[in-house]
Amino acid sequence: MGAVKMAEGIWWVGAIDWELRGFHGLATPEGSTYNSYLVVGDKVALIDAVKTDAGATLLRNVSEIVDPARIDYVISNHSEPDHSGALAQVLEAAPDARLLASKEGVKRLGDMFPSQWEIEAVGDGDRISLGNLSLHFINTPLLHWPETMMTWCPERGVLFSCDPYGAHIATTERFADEVGIDYVLAYTRTYFAYLIAAYRSAMKKAASKTASLDIKMIAPSHGPIWRDGLKLLLEEYRRWIELELEDRATIIYGSMWGGTRKMAEAIAEGLKDGGLDVRAFNVELADPSDVIAESFLSRVVLIGSPTFESGVYPPVEAFIPWLRIPRDKSRQVAVFGSFGWSGGAARRLQDILRSEGYRVNDEPLTIRFFPDADAVGHCREYGRRIAEWSQGERGEEAKTAAE
Ligand code: FEO
Repeated sequence: MGAVKMAEGIWWVGAIDWELRGFHGLATPEGSTYNSYLVVGDKVALIDAVKTDAGATLLRNVSEIVDPARIDYVISNHSEPDHSGALAQVLEAAPDARLLASKEGVKRLGDMFPSQWEIEAVGDGDRISLGNLSLHFINTPLLHWPETMMTWCPERGVLFSCDPYGAHIATTERFADEVGIDYVLAYTRTYFAYLIAAYRSAMKKAASKTASLDIKMIAPSHGPIWRDGLKLLLEEYRRWIELELEDRATIIYGSMWGGTRKMAEAIAEGLKDGGLDVRAFNVELADPSDVIAESFLSRVVLIGSPTFESGVYPPVEAFIPWLRIPRDKSRQVAVFGSFGWSGGAARRLQDILRSEGYRVNDEPLTIRFFPDADAVGHCREYGRRIAEWSQGERGEEAKTAAE
């Protein structure tokens, strides 16, 4: 896979990682790409590098278009190692290139590669001319490190957006419309929930900064490039930033002998009766990133645990930190679980979740040992009640969270 032309004077020159299976805990079953872009006017700019071990691929792709020694500018939108790891190889091949980064980026690269290079800071609204093309810099801190920026090429309408709008998918096709819009969007959503959702307010500012641009293409630092389907992508991002809840419920449970699992199944039926789509995950089988992607716009999250040593079943308790990732304290949560003699898991779960700031339903559902037919009926009814409870607004917190 060599360089891919995106527009007159602009090429994708990155690398595909078919083997990647995890990124900061986010499952990446389809691998990923590290996108670098070459912009060729009278002068030549390279936007971002790739992981260290993909540096040779990057330089080979650049060589298909220009001699790397001709690169005048290397722009670091983001200094995380998946985009800066090969900088040393790039700068060795392009000894006359000027390295540009945001003010924070200068510090970050300076910390990561002490005394190695002279790095020039560019600020919000600064621009460089490549002759017939120009590149403008837009500060977008926290997306997803404090130094991150986007780069805009107005003559071609291409926004090099860095991590936002990205997805972890390895494909030989470079454009989302070639891969399949719905397919790419599903991975984009997971990526957002796991890596961007915690910085919704920063993303909202970035989206408002770029709203007036005549964008024809969004070129993120991971996964396919967006041209057709742009409107849908931006609308989906708006919904995600605003935490627009969907009529869905997520059940997360653990089970030792099947009692709590049986409760989860019956509660799921009740939630469905109440008008919610439901997905249930056993914490000992599920991938946390799937649960996060599924639950972050759920009206309600139900957590089930059997009682273990008068407390919460450890695999369930160990799962709770994963729920913090989207940083949504307005989330509505309900708890349930089976017990043998003493009970205690539901109460303890409520305490933990309240201490984390979640809005916890006051009435946990507990069942002794295995639910019989009557108890299954109670569980189903409980699911209906929770569905009704969840229809209430999550309050102003959900809206203000994005402000
Ligand atoms: Fe793709 Fe934040 O690195």
